[in-house]
Amino acid sequence: MTLIAPNQIFAELARPETRPNPYPLWRQLADHGPAFQDNGVCLVPGHADCVALFQDPRVSSDASKVRDEPQAPFAPPFFLMDPPNHDRLRRLTMKHFGPPDRGNYVDSLTGDIRGFVQRFIDELKGETRFELISTFANRLPVEVIAKITGISIEEQNQIGRWLASIIFEPEAMKLLDTDGSIQREQAKGVEALGGFLMKTVADRKQNPRGDDILNRLLADDAPDAMSDEEVMSTMLILLAGGHETTITLIGNAMVQLLRNPDTMADVRADPRLVAPLVEEVLRFEPPIQYRVRYALDDMEIAGLPIPAGTKLMPAIAAANRDAARFDNPDAFDIHRAPHPHLSFASGAHFCFGAPLARLEGQIALGELIRRLRNPRLVEGELEYKPSPETRGPKRLVIEVDGFDD
Ligand code: HEM
Repeated sequence: MTLIAPNQIFAELARPETRPNPYPLWRQLADHGPAFQDNGVCLVPGHADCVALFQDPRVSSDASKVRDEPQAPFAPPFFLMDPPNHDRLRRLTMKHFGPPDRGNYVDSLTGDIRGFVQRFIDELKGETRFELISTFANRLPVEVIAKITGISIEEQNQIGRWLASIIFEPEAMKLLDTDGSIQREQAKGVEALGGFLMKTVADRKQNPRGDDILNRLLADDAPDAMSDEEVMSTMLILLAGGHETTITLIGNAMVQLLRNPDTMADVRADPRLVAPLVEEVLRFEPPIQYRVRYALDDMEIAGLPIPAGTKLMPAIAAANRDAARFDNPDAFDIHRAPHPHLSFASGAHFCFGAPLARLEGQIALGELIRRLRNPRLVEGELEYKPSPETRGPKRLVIEVDGFDD
């Protein structure tokens, strides 16, 4: 591959031609070190630099502290906030999601998740060729989030369409949106989603039902409990955060397994290997390839001066293949240990849903590996989603000889 100028790597990453394999570009960035791009953002590839950046109090997740960027029409979700307000909202949400207040909650979803997965695979029985994303991967997080939030499958399918137009990270959108149509769709999506969340919160306050997280957040009578607007934006990140990422984890894993039949055979022979398999897929093909932060002060990263106000992009996809942290980083190897990948980030914003994402991934992949007979990837049909930030197949066709029970 021809070398790209270090200041043009981001623009190159956004090109549709790069989607099948962005890793040579991430490797080039890793070899070069932090690099300012033509659009003014600074990509940061080193593992140690990314960890430091995720944990540095001089670095913010809140764009409004340094620049005028379009804001959400209601309270910003807590992943776009800094402590102390971030910590308050995260703690109030965590009370209903896991330890220490609700220790076994995520584990208690195991039976439901297994039931969803079995049903989706049963529905494929009789097929010898099927598309995995629409028939399986897309459906799992929707069912799980319906269980957690009480927001129905139909409502979530609509929400999924709105989110698909909203989640484009602004720098990627500037490059991809050549005729302004993505921005118009985004504005429509934000308005429709805002209206839906407002109505849902109002309905639930009048008619509380069930014991889901939405009802629990609204019923919280702690002195620092969330306002209605904060509940809305928290629902938004639970819906958005757990959706696309989990779908792409399953899709990316199946591509790797189908391209590495020996690994598939190893996990089939020893199902306990599904946990390290999920970790290696997260490292090798991170569903979120980079995140965004803002420098609040002048600082230095790997010797490069960073002026206050710079938009920083910790490049998870490059950090996960940093040769200083991982032996033979471009090899897909489920037996590697330890496994300090950054696919769930690090520091105060470490992924809230990581235990659930891992559980969903392990059950989904474990059952697919166990039940698909002689699965083969139809390489010619493989198509990736357009965003350079959220990486995963949009279309993944598999041929099989049949299904085990
Ligand atoms: C494979 C699946 C997943 C991946 C790769 C992933 C990745 C990430 C990453 C990289 C962040 C950090 C964002 C930042 O620092 O700017 C994050 C935060 C977050 N994730 Fe996930 N996520 C996944 C699944 C989920 C699920 C299933 C949920 C919800 C049930 C979820 C909810 C959240 C929330 C609420 C945050 C914000 C945390 C905070 O700001 O304190 N994620 N996730």
